[in-house]
Amino acid sequence: MEQKKQLVDLDWNNLGFSYIKTDYRYISYWKNGAWDEGKLTKDNQVHISEGSTALHYGQTCFEGLKAYRTKSGDIQLFRPDRNAKRMQESCERLLMPVVSEEKFIDAVKQAVKANEQWIPPYGTEGSLYIRPYMIGVGDNIGVQPADEYIFSVFVMPVGAYFKGGLTPTNFIVSEYDRAASYGTGAVKVGGNYGSSFLPWDKAQKRQFSDCIYLDPATHTKIEEVGSANFFAITKDGTFVTPASPSILPSITKYSLLHLAEHYLNMPVVEGDVYIDRLDDYAEAGACGTAAVITPIGGIQYKDDFHVFYSETAVGPVTTKLYDLLTGIQFGDVEGPKDWIV
Ligand code: COI
Repeated sequence: MEQKKQLVDLDWNNLGFSYIKTDYRYISYWKNGAWDEGKLTKDNQVHISEGSTALHYGQTCFEGLKAYRTKSGDIQLFRPDRNAKRMQESCERLLMPVVSEEKFIDAVKQAVKANEQWIPPYGTEGSLYIRPYMIGVGDNIGVQPADEYIFSVFVMPVGAYFKGGLTPTNFIVSEYDRAASYGTGAVKVGGNYGSSFLPWDKAQKRQFSDCIYLDPATHTKIEEVGSANFFAITKDGTFVTPASPSILPSITKYSLLHLAEHYLNMPVVEGDVYIDRLDDYAEAGACGTAAVITPIGGIQYKDDFHVFYSETAVGPVTTKLYDLLTGIQFGDVEGPKDWIV
């Protein structure tokens, strides 16, 4: 029988979401038109040319997924094939070489296994956050794609992304756009996130967790919640989430759509969520790999503050969705067969 490794000594119940250097990361280089085999390294520094396109022109994309420790001690990944596919779409948008699904999942598995002692124990709500990324590197200066790339995967134990986890938190509608209508909003590229720092900072200074972005064309419909997707439950029990070409297709959001429809027998709609129609909704939340499900207490829009279910208590449908999703992720509930690796 394989010997289980001793866990590292951490305060597992108070992890938060911050960088922790673990033991190994995976790294692979693209040179002369092909990926090398890739390997694990203990070095968490990236040594690249000052001409790297990632530094100047934002030729960089990333992914976020998690590994969970189950009650029996097994380690499982949640829908890594979806992250592989989304990363391919990001790479294609920035003219970077794609990583095959097989190589992506193999790299993730290598990084997770090599850092097994860092995976939070079952029952703590913590998990191992996995960050695959790709950067254009090499000696470049013209505004053109690089000839060389690094694909790497690092991991760290994390707790809740928004303080309090499954606790309602408030957001403010931003006057900035997150992405242009047919820009890069639907892919996970660095530029979308760097440009969100200022709106995030303004929201924080007003005591909000982050901001709500409206659709860039008309500024009438909700698109995203900071770096997470948005969902709401109508007063007659329909699961609604915005549809738009500038929203990042969240794997958590599509999983919730499926669970709401097929496990909770709810009507589901991917459609418009108008910012002046918030009264139609009984509950609302942010969802994503990092955010999991974060209930939205209220939204500040211009001079109005709209409270959904409560600023302190979690709504019944949000609770059911959270229990179902995390139950599947931690192996306590059986979900669709192909979701767990
Ligand atoms: C994720 O949920 O993985 C995200 O992308 C959010 C953020 C940490 C960038």
